[in-house]
Order: sequence, then C-alpha cells, then structure tokens
Amino acid sequence: MALPSQGKDKDTLLAELQTYKGRDVNWQEGRTFAYVYDPGAEAMAVGKAAFSSFLTENALDPTVYPSLMRLENEIVGFCASHLNLPDDGVGTFTSGGTESILLAVKSARDFARQTRPEVTRPNMVLPVTAHAAFHKASSYFDVELVLVEVDPVSFAVTPEAMAAAIDEQTVLVVASSPGYAHGVMDPIAAIGAICETRSLPFHVDACVGGWMLPFWRRLQLADGMTDVIDAFDFEVKGVTSLSVDLHKYGFCPKGASVVLFRNKTLRNAAGFACSDWAGYTVVNPSVQSSKSGGPLAGAWSVMRFLGDEGYMAITDRLRQATLALLEGISAIDGLEIMGQPAMCMFAFTSTEFDVFHVADEMSARGWYVQPQLGHTGPTGQRYAGNVHLSLNSWGTLDRVTPFLADLQDAVQAARTLPDVRPNAEMGQMLQAMAGQTLSGDELMGMLGLMGVGAGEQGAELPERMAPINRILDAMPAKMNEAVLSGFMGELYAPAR
Ligand SMILES: Cc1ncc(COP(=O)(O)O)c(C=O)c1O
Repeated sequence: MALPSQGKDKDTLLAELQTYKGRDVNWQEGRTFAYVYDPGAEAMAVGKAAFSSFLTENALDPTVYPSLMRLENEIVGFCASHLNLPDDGVGTFTSGGTESILLAVKSARDFARQTRPEVTRPNMVLPVTAHAAFHKASSYFDVELVLVEVDPVSFAVTPEAMAAAIDEQTVLVVASSPGYAHGVMDPIAAIGAICETRSLPFHVDACVGGWMLPFWRRLQLADGMTDVIDAFDFEVKGVTSLSVDLHKYGFCPKGASVVLFRNKTLRNAAGFACSDWAGYTVVNPSVQSSKSGGPLAGAWSVMRFLGDEGYMAITDRLRQATLALLEGISAIDGLEIMGQPAMCMFAFTSTEFDVFHVADEMSARGWYVQPQLGHTGPTGQRYAGNVHLSLNSWGTLDRVTPFLADLQDAVQAARTLPDVRPNAEMGQMLQAMAGQTLSGDELMGMLGLMGVGAGEQGAELPERMAPINRILDAMPAKMNEAVLSGFMGELYAPAR
C-alpha cells in the first residue's frame, strides 16, 4: 500500500479514523467486561487532554525535560504512599504491567548475578495463576519457571507448596494480589515470611489490585467487616518489589504502570546503561528508551482529578456491582463462582453445561465476557475453562439487573445447545500432536477447518466461538500457542 501522494486535511482524517472503529467492541455502554477501564466521561476527558498536551515531550533524558521527571516522581510518590513503600524505596514508571514485571524479573536475575555467583541456572518460583507476563520474562531473560499448582478449590497457592518449590537456584518468588484469572489473592504475608527468612527477592504482582485494594479494604472496614483484605504490599516485610498498573484500576489512559522496589540496589539491577557505542550515552531505568510524556501527564492528571474521594466513589460503585453480580450469578442454577474473589474481577464455570456457549449467548445479547480456556498444571491438575468478568466502568452498577436477566437466559439457551467438546478420538489426536511442529499452511488449514480466517479487516471469526474454544481447550498448551501465534501472524500482514 503506497503512501497517498497528497496529504489530506485533519477533519477528513479524523472522520476516517472513526470509521475504522466500526467493528471494535463498544466499551462506551459499560457492556464490555474486560480491556477498558472507564472512570466516567469527565475523568476520561481530563486524561485525554493531559495526554495529548505532553504527547511530544520525550522522557529519554530527564535533564532535557525535567517536567517529565517531576511528573514521574510525583506519580511514584502517590504509589509509594498508597502501598507503604519504606522511605528508602524507589520506583519506575513503565508502559504497563508486562514492562513492570519484566523489570522485576531482570532486577532479580541481575541482583543474583551480582551477589550469588553459585547461581548458574536462575529460576523463579510462581503459582500457575501468575500472569503470562512472567512466562514472557522467563523467555526474554532466561530465568527458568518453576510453576506451583494452586489449591483446586480456592485457586490460591499455599505457602507450603511455594516453600517446597524453592531451591538453591531460585532468584525470585512471585505471587499475585489478586491473580487476573479468578481474581483470587495469594497468601502474601506467609510467602513474604518465607522469602524474608531465606533472603530471597519476592515480587507481588498487584497490577490489577494494587491501586484498588486499599480503597476496597477501607469500604470493608466502614461496613464493619472484620474479615478484610489481608496486607499485600510493602507492609509485608518480605516483599521486595511490586507492580501496580495505573491504566487498569487507576483508570488512567493506557501506557501507565509503576514498579516499586524496596531499595535502590534492586532498582539499579533492573536498569540498563550503555556508553560503549559511538553516540549519546543511554541510561534507561525502564525497557523503553524514547518515551512519550503523554502517559505520564495522563496518569498524573487523572489521579489528581479523582483524588482519594473520587477513587473511593468508583470503588464503592464497583464493589456494590460486584456483590450484586456475585449473589445473582451464584443464584443461577448450574453456575459456580471459582474461589473467593477479592475485588471486582472473578470467573464462573459450570459442570452442567458449556460456559463457552454461555459466553456466545451473552455476545448475542450485546455483552462482552471473556472466555478463559482450561489449563493443565505441571503435575496434571486440571483447571476448568471458565468465563471471566472484570467490572471496569462507572456505569456497570446500572447494568447489573439487565446483565443478570440476560445471563439467566443465556444459561437456559446453553443447556439446549449441543456438546461441542472434541470426541475422545479427536482429543487423543490433539494430545498426540503435542511437540510436533506444524507448517504455516498446516496451521492455517487447521484454523480454516475451525472456521477462522484472516479477512481484509482483521480476524474473521465465526459467530459462535464455543466449538473453537473447546478445541483450543483440549489442545496441549504448546500447540495452542503455536496455532494462535500462527493466526496472529496471518492477521498482521502489510496492507497491499
Ligand atoms: C495480574 C496481572 N499482571 C500483569 C498483567 C499484564 O499487564 P499489561 O497488559 O498492562 O501488560 C495483567 C493484565 O491483565 C494482569 O492482570
């Protein structure tokens, strides 16, 4: 596709851009339970205006743009005070949860390189529910994964299982508060105590919970509850780093997360510097080098626009919506909430009908809920496929009643729909293919059989995803990764 020979005017382009959004999931109506966090129109507008006012400035060099350094120090300051970071603790603003996690893992690996020469094959110990970003960090930084099964009923890892998995090559221990999949907290204080005794770095992935949980706990206390959210931040002595995403439950524009470190030594180990080339000296505390000021200004403004009061108000609305939804969903025959969710995100499943049919039926009724495939853990423990909901919008509270009515109908419809699980023969065939490498054509052939293709405007997916989700669910994880990566590879092709 060649660049147009003549430029076009701004209004035409902006109008054209809007038409590109035509097939996107519509989050504006509060019917999308993933991906977008909407604090209401006013706060959103503040974030957008602030973001564009700093879009051009570059945080690459704080001596050239001291405004960006100031914004970063103040944002990290808000997080430090919110999450009990000790006085000599520090932090870095990053583009998102994944980047924060990459830095925490690099910090642990490089800290071990500096202090423990006996470590030759570094590993990190983490529950199977820890976010895939740790798997990415493992592959980027060559830190082996030691995956620990979680309790099959609570979906939280046990401190005993974590302790048993640690060995002399362990450089990092990880737990979540909460994990994304089921919204369940790991026992942070108990794992922290183990790490403190063994002098091991301990990262708490509070990407989703870090900003909201302290507000949630205050609301629980105000309700007179005694069984409130446990300590999960630097209050726990063993915690050495923590990631908190501001572009999730901080409701800031995307590209905003913070990773906090208990001390400068650990943060230094996450950073990178190079003057051994012919150009300017690079000193990067984060993965990015050139870095737009937009996300910094957007986050700073939304946080200050909302303030403590604003966050308490949003958390209150989302908590009310969550409690009503949990009660409503539990009352629907055949649906089960998985574990005890800590905040406004959770998953449900069923042993009586296919929850992937329920997800399709909800889509047909104009809701987006997120199907999550089943998973087999390292010892063969099976985690059931489910449907995930993240409550994420100021408007969600007003949608609880219609959502529950549609869910009830969707369940009734799912009960009448056929079983789309692969039969035993096909299941065996899929398992037998584990470890085989498929060519691009074979992958596309397989996707084509499943009704999936790459169209001119992106993914061409069939209306009903349950049959595909069931095949993916039955595949070994590695094959699933290969098939979906192949699919993504077809989607991203230069426009001709
Ligand atoms: C618990 C947790 N950690 C890490 C991440 C990765 O964050 P991001 O998508 O911002 O890179 C997510 C994303 O949902 C998450 O839920």
